Amino acid sequence: MVSEHATPKVQVLLASNRGPVSYALKEDGSLESRRGGGGLVSGLSAIGDEVESLWVCAALGDGDREAVRRGIGEQGVRMLDIDPEVFAQAYNGIANSVLWFVHHMLYQTPLEPSFDAEFRRQWASYETCNRAFAEALAAAAGDGARVLVQDYHLALVPGMLRELRPDLRIGHFSHTPWAPVDYFRMLPDDIAARLVRGMLGADRLGFLTRRWASAFMDSATATLPDETEAFVPSGEGRRWLRHRVPGRAPHETDIAVHPLGADGDFLRRRSREADVEERIIALREQIGAGRRTIVRVDRTELSKNIVRGLHAYRHLLDTRPEWRERVVHVAFAYPSRQDLAVYRDYTAEVARVAEDINSAYGTASWTPVLLHVQDDFARSLAAYRLADVALVNPIRDGMNLVAKEVPVVSDAGCVLVLSREAGAVAELGDDALVVNPYDVVGTADALHAALCMGEGERAERTKRLAAAGTGVPPRRWFLDQLEGLGS
Ligand code: F6P
Repeated sequence: MVSEHATPKVQVLLASNRGPVSYALKEDGSLESRRGGGGLVSGLSAIGDEVESLWVCAALGDGDREAVRRGIGEQGVRMLDIDPEVFAQAYNGIANSVLWFVHHMLYQTPLEPSFDAEFRRQWASYETCNRAFAEALAAAAGDGARVLVQDYHLALVPGMLRELRPDLRIGHFSHTPWAPVDYFRMLPDDIAARLVRGMLGADRLGFLTRRWASAFMDSATATLPDETEAFVPSGEGRRWLRHRVPGRAPHETDIAVHPLGADGDFLRRRSREADVEERIIALREQIGAGRRTIVRVDRTELSKNIVRGLHAYRHLLDTRPEWRERVVHVAFAYPSRQDLAVYRDYTAEVARVAEDINSAYGTASWTPVLLHVQDDFARSLAAYRLADVALVNPIRDGMNLVAKEVPVVSDAGCVLVLSREAGAVAELGDDALVVNPYDVVGTADALHAALCMGEGERAERTKRLAAAGTGVPPRRWFLDQLEGLGS
């Protein structure tokens, strides 16, 4: 029994679409659980026992739903079993096909987007999902709890939650870029307004870089010119938005920047384990003795720009024949969002272009592109260690942790070819070779320069990249956000 005088525990609630655990239904009817990784998982492990935490997430597939129905779950995790059709419309229809596209600028604008009646139906489902989260959080939160809401899937949650529980401290963190104002305003005006009002329900909005934070402020003031006022004092101090709604006290939302870094300790340890060593041996064999390696590791997302990366590599082989037989492009492109046709098509295009390069240039003893699509973390680490060059060329990316991870585990130093549109460029730009991701010829030139860089310079740059990339490890990143939200 809790003593009358016991100090109530500080409560932290996390909300994200994808949770820290997932369940797969096996043939014999049993459920197998799998734990995910990532910044939030290790961040949460940093809070002490004096803090009580609850992670609210969505049941994503049949296994998750079955777990909810059977009452199976992990302590501290609550999965919401939202109607599958409603969830699919919100997740595939709005989050992945509209909001992700807007923030990563992925539309082919002569034909899309086209916000029709189907879009409105999907939007209604997005609101329903956000409401389910807000209600679950409101019901679970003790007095004055702190709530950290994640990402574009849940952009309306802060506003909905504030309506239900004005006593809570609410934060929201965007792991993606934020769209430039003109691109954001492609959304129908009422929808853009709802998104901004939803976000401004938070006490604090976190972004990975200053660029994304500023883009949000611009979008907010352009979308709601009569309701919002931006405060941007010069220097690094506090920045905030004031939101005025008639009949209510104005609400202020801090705009904060928290650049997530790589988990250096974990990576250094994990990348020296036996399964990684085994994969290094296998990869070396596939690459062939004495050859250089250009490595990329991505989820196959449209924003990752894998196809242009392959075109750049092809251009390198075309225009600088001296590299033929002497370099291998190791491309790990792991499946993502295969429910969406555009993702399936893109995945097929990656394989097609890789095959084209191999049949145009490959020889009996040299495969120019080694494409692997089966997710294997140990093999990714093995490739990181072997890489002479890491190619990270997204069209747009909130941060891109691969860019920060490779230098940490690299065996002999690695040159980073990095897109200027990745959030990581803010911290790594000085020591990377920075490219315009649309410029295939420019990227090929950077690959050539990277392959030619002398060992000494390469090692020095790698050291600085590793230091810059691990400056804010996930635990620090998470605690900073909690601290910023106050109590
Ligand atoms: O990488 C950016 C991100 O927004 C993550 O924060 C998030 O977990 C992920 O994308 C969403 O991907 P998925 O659709 O596979 O859950």
